[in-house]
Amino acid sequence: MAGFLDQIEPLKQTALAELKAAPDLAALEQTKGAWIGPNGRFTALMKQLGTLAKEEKPAAGKLINAAKVGLEAALAERRGELELKAALPKEPTDFTLPGRRRAPGKLHPLTQVTEDIVRSFRKIGFVVADGPEIEDEYHCFDALNTPADHPARDMQDTFYLAKPDAAQPSTLNPQLLLRTHTSSVQIRVMEQMKKAGKEPPVRIIVPGRVYRRDNADATHNPTFQQIEGLYVDKTVTVGDLKGTVEFVFRELMGSDVKIRFRPHYFSYTEPSFEIDFTNALVKKMGKDWLEIAGCGMVHPQVFENVGYDPEVWTGWAFGFGIERIAMLRYGINDIRLFYENDARFLRQF
Ligand code: DAH
Repeated sequence: MAGFLDQIEPLKQTALAELKAAPDLAALEQTKGAWIGPNGRFTALMKQLGTLAKEEKPAAGKLINAAKVGLEAALAERRGELELKAALPKEPTDFTLPGRRRAPGKLHPLTQVTEDIVRSFRKIGFVVADGPEIEDEYHCFDALNTPADHPARDMQDTFYLAKPDAAQPSTLNPQLLLRTHTSSVQIRVMEQMKKAGKEPPVRIIVPGRVYRRDNADATHNPTFQQIEGLYVDKTVTVGDLKGTVEFVFRELMGSDVKIRFRPHYFSYTEPSFEIDFTNALVKKMGKDWLEIAGCGMVHPQVFENVGYDPEVWTGWAFGFGIERIAMLRYGINDIRLFYENDARFLRQF
């Protein structure tokens, strides 16, 4: 029976070598089966134990058991190695590569300009107000004293929404549209204050999106942004208006800014002006003045429409396009660049 004992060690060595060499978990399971599974070669050897002479059994049993323990330990170790290998990324990782940096985002140039304008007005006591982009004809036009036949109200110029439901009658003109200017918010704010029983002063600015049926070109876009301003108090003057506009534009565009008022017509102000602006940049563009905003003293009829006594209250209002100012400030020559979301353009601001 010396032959039996002699078989154990070489078989063990072969089994160990095969377990260690198993290339993956599936191969390892196969190797395990081939050796210590029910029909494995090592299991067969153990079964032969019964055929040995009585005095040989203890020594042989001990040896076989020790070998089996050794094989099981080797199996567990290799399984651990292979499991770890399976969990690692397939591609080798190069830890010497530089990290991938994600550039911090920035505010859109139009947002930056808007925030700068808002900041300047806050310094002199104005607060930001808001109103709906889907407006009704009353707030966009009628309450602003804009006559029914005014060209701005034309289908050609304004985006009207589908006719409202006749089953929902309204005392006001219920026709809905996309607001053509932020001036509608003047009306909404004064109405709200009146309803809340709050007297002027009113000092608001209204940044917001507006819509017009313009074809897009270098200086027009069917949607753009405006900032509206409204100040209502007792004994408000054109001087207050001009001083305020000058203050804000100097903050925004530098101390060399000059402002000029030119007579104009708006239905909601009387007198009305257009504001021209100039500074070194405008001169560089080869121009003397650049038209930048509309403004005026709030029309008595507008006060009447919101229930303010025009004999008591006075006020001024203005509205300007934010894109215009941003283009001037950054030297941008095509308004469409603002809306294209081209990161190469946006990164510059
Ligand atoms: N709403 C005018 C526009 O869109 C701008 C404007 C002019 C606003 C005069 C005003 C104002 O508040 O008083 O062109």
